[in-house]
Amino acid sequence: MKIAVLGSGAMGCLYGGKLAEAGLDVTLIDVWKEHVDAINAHGLSVEGIGGDRVIKNIKAVTTPEEVKGCDLLIVFVKATLTSQAMESARCIMGPHTSVLTLQNGLGNVEKISAVVGKEKVIAGVTGHGSTLLGPGKIRHAGQGNTVIGELNGKIDERLEAVGSVLEKGGFSVTLSNNVMGLIWGKLIVNIGINALTAVTGLKNGRLVDFPETEELLCGAVEEAMAVAKAKGISLEIGDPVEHTKKVARLTAENRSSMLQDVSNKRKTEISVINGAVVEEGVQYGVPTPINKVLYNLVSVKEKTYNEV
Ligand code: PAF
Repeated sequence: MKIAVLGSGAMGCLYGGKLAEAGLDVTLIDVWKEHVDAINAHGLSVEGIGGDRVIKNIKAVTTPEEVKGCDLLIVFVKATLTSQAMESARCIMGPHTSVLTLQNGLGNVEKISAVVGKEKVIAGVTGHGSTLLGPGKIRHAGQGNTVIGELNGKIDERLEAVGSVLEKGGFSVTLSNNVMGLIWGKLIVNIGINALTAVTGLKNGRLVDFPETEELLCGAVEEAMAVAKAKGISLEIGDPVEHTKKVARLTAENRSSMLQDVSNKRKTEISVINGAVVEEGVQYGVPTPINKVLYNLVSVKEKTYNEV
């Protein structure tokens, strides 16, 4: 099976790297030339979970045109870039290519479907955490399940095949018939952790060490739960507040993707995480004051990158 990973930052490299390590034919696609050049010249360096190693049998390119088709396209670009990235990846799509999104945030399924058609799309969530340390170098900082599902809720042959491929790469996989519930479940975790780490500079695990941050984590999650309930989303996770605290502990050493973004003065996913919940809250008449504060604070951080 030929696999391409669209958006090969920390998470794209983790999935692509582990699949290549299992002997699969993987091409990483990323616009960052220095990173792509480093991977092609020296391999992909991985440290952390699984031990320090260099994965050599992996290719990297800067544009989708350089990939000659694939059977599975795994999308890991920032949710704010999904439409643009998928448009550029049209050339990779063959009649039997499936697209798997494991991205954070709301709206990715809709944006990918608008480009390739919803029958091509499989969605899911990942419990893994990874940090980009520099060109060609990542740290696998936290691990969890990868849960995937078809948009029509069917557990079909294609879903099983993609699940088996991921398992070959050493990922523990669950197949789900409730993909929107999954996405909202993951969104809720990101709502509780990401913006708070970006604002405080803390690693995930530290958020539950202080009553002040723990209170905000719980409040942000409770607001999102109320929005999900108003939308009729059936969440897969029993107690979202406890679950989010558990993920923070399990990924204690991880610097969340949003903290990594603000540290590197990059655009964050705040608009598709806390911002999306605020927007949906307005639509459904559910108050979301904590999420609004987090959204505003991270937005101002982004706007003042050049001033600090
Ligand atoms: O965005 C992230 O960093 C991750 O989704 C998570 C689970 C918060 C771990 O860092």
